[in-house]
Amino acid sequence: MNIPAFLYFFNLLWASPSVVLSRGVNRHNVAQFKVNSLPGISSLPTSWAGRLPVPGAKKGNEIFFWLFESEKPAYDDNLIIWFNGGPGCSSLIGLATGNGPFSFDGNSTNLVRNPHSWTQLGNVLYVDQPVGTGLSTASDPYPVRDNGQVTTDFASWLVGFLDRFPHLKSKQIHLMGESYAGIYIPYIASQLVKNSSVPLNIASMSLGDGSWGNGAAMSSVATGRYIRSKSALLDIPEEILSVFAEADETCGFNGVLAESAVYPPKGKFVIPGNPEFFNLKRRRRDLTNALNAACDIGPTTPEEVRTSIFNSTCYGPCATFSTAMDYMTTKSANSSTHGCYDVYDISHDCSSISALPLLAGYFSRADVQAALHAPNSGPYSACNSTILGTLLAAESPVPPAYFILPNLVTEHNISLHLFSGEWDMLINHLGSELSLQNMTWRGAQGFSKPPNQLFYADNAAPSVTKNSQPAPATTLAAATATLKAAGTWAEERGVSYHLFREAGHSTFVNKPREMFSYVRDVVVAPRAG
Ligand SMILES: *[C@@H]1O[C@H](CO)[C@@H](O)[C@H](O)[C@H]1NC(C)=O
Ligand SMILES: *[C@@H]1O[C@H](CO)[C@@H](O)[C@H](O)[C@H]1NC(C)=O
Ligand SMILES: *[C@@H]1O[C@H](CO)[C@@H](O)[C@H](O)[C@H]1NC(C)=O
Ligand SMILES: *[C@@H]1O[C@H](CO)[C@@H](O)[C@H](O)[C@H]1NC(C)=O
Ligand SMILES: *[C@@H]1O[C@H](CO)[C@@H](O)[C@H](O)[C@H]1NC(C)=O
Ligand SMILES: *[C@@H]1O[C@H](CO)[C@@H](O)[C@H](O)[C@H]1NC(C)=O
Ligand SMILES: *[C@@H]1O[C@H](CO)[C@@H](O)[C@H](O)[C@H]1NC(C)=O
Repeated sequence: MNIPAFLYFFNLLWASPSVVLSRGVNRHNVAQFKVNSLPGISSLPTSWAGRLPVPGAKKGNEIFFWLFESEKPAYDDNLIIWFNGGPGCSSLIGLATGNGPFSFDGNSTNLVRNPHSWTQLGNVLYVDQPVGTGLSTASDPYPVRDNGQVTTDFASWLVGFLDRFPHLKSKQIHLMGESYAGIYIPYIASQLVKNSSVPLNIASMSLGDGSWGNGAAMSSVATGRYIRSKSALLDIPEEILSVFAEADETCGFNGVLAESAVYPPKGKFVIPGNPEFFNLKRRRRDLTNALNAACDIGPTTPEEVRTSIFNSTCYGPCATFSTAMDYMTTKSANSSTHGCYDVYDISHDCSSISALPLLAGYFSRADVQAALHAPNSGPYSACNSTILGTLLAAESPVPPAYFILPNLVTEHNISLHLFSGEWDMLINHLGSELSLQNMTWRGAQGFSKPPNQLFYADNAAPSVTKNSQPAPATTLAAATATLKAAGTWAEERGVSYHLFREAGHSTFVNKPREMFSYVRDVVVAPRAG
């Protein structure tokens, strides 16, 4: 069916009160949520947005959603649910910075269509959770105390949401997210599969630069190795790198990394001591400096770096991660050539655009909030420090890598897709690879071979995707991008890992085309068991 004919057909459906179904959506039931137009952009895929209450919660606790209909009927069987992390960051970040139907035009709040929108690969649901995040609302005082409540709130909210959009109940559900969503998603999935009164088909989980492993493994243990591998980009002098090398030896990190470099691994990797108190409690150095800015001593010399790593009474012992962050922040504040250090993407400099103020500018507008059926939400901020502080200060959830992810993959046959951007220093890829090698699923630990197969801009799973040939390239630049490897990957026993080259914490920001292929070829593609 050609597009004008399709639109005509669609309009006819609208005009006829007796016919309410289009691809399964009961449009009467959800008409109040239909997004009829959005300021600043003339064409948008069909979508519904608004807030729905968390069942059983106090009045005022409502989760904001924005659901897009699949633009391609061939992919209509998928429901992708996207989560940003934080905790306390809005999923509109992912929507507007490279995975959704529009993005900002440079450093302005003018909107442009994103040709790599995942809405071409399924129905896509964006959610601002926990309550109080983004355009969601919360009662006062802030009611969410810990990750357990985040999990049960969202699971019961989703059930209520699916009652409104019942045609989605039978879809293949793909939970995707980044950063702290590495905790949200596995916990939410395990809550949903527990509940047999709500049979859902959770097909996959994708965790990008996610915090799903042991806190120390994902930070301190691999920090020294990471900054050495990226020392040119980070511009760290050898005399400083050698202090980190000394710490990696003294703290036993080299031993852990050596064990993880053996394929297949010989047993669980024991992290000596309790670096930065991460084993005991996630006491991650807070990026907004709200929790423990007082720990920062601004080290610049090797001696100061050594003191910060070994003798900080505040970071805890063997604090390579916190020290590296403090060192880089201090150095860039004083540098004319390497200013504006960005832990989320170490390739950034002062000319890089920050999308968060743009999001705040756009989604705070009264006309935008009204269009999204979230009127009078007041000033929107992409991340909420109250929620971040509350949840990070709470009891740390058990790392999903220990039991939750293995159980979901092994017992529930849910595919797990892990991915990293090489330029992310917050959750660096070496720490993710280490944590993956320490995980046991379907009867074995880790991968049996290093994840070093190549994948490409238009083919994210070359050895398994038979019918996903690279699209014919129309320009020389496109042809070159197609041939250049986008990164390295592997897949074993229902778990895949992709390392994206030249990408930061949010891989799709630098690599929207590659991530589009990834979602198509890895996430929503039918997998072999
Ligand atoms: C963060 O969330 C809390 C709890 O809902 C709310 O009181 C506060 O206004 C929010 N802060 C921002 C900056 O949005
Ligand atoms: C299962 O879901 C139903 C519907 O949301 C809910 O009432 C019930 O409490 C849930 N049970 C569990 C164990 O989560
Ligand atoms: C490996 O997993 C075990 C639990 O199975 C945990 O005790 C240990 O700290 C983990 N090591 C790393 C490096 O993640
Ligand atoms: C760190 O403190 C220990 C004692 O707790 C001391 O022996 C050591 O010399 C100190 N190291 C540095 C670099 O200050
Ligand atoms: C930054 O540079 C100034 C001038 O060279 C110096 O006085 C100051 O100590 C430096 N600050 C840091 C944190 O290195
Ligand atoms: C983007 O615009 C803001 C506000 O006008 C400005 O402060 C910022 O420096 C700009 N960023 C870049 C990279 O030009
Ligand atoms: C597991 O899921 C895959 C698709 O992801 C499917 O091909 C396979 O048949 C499933 N196996 C079982 C035992 O359900």
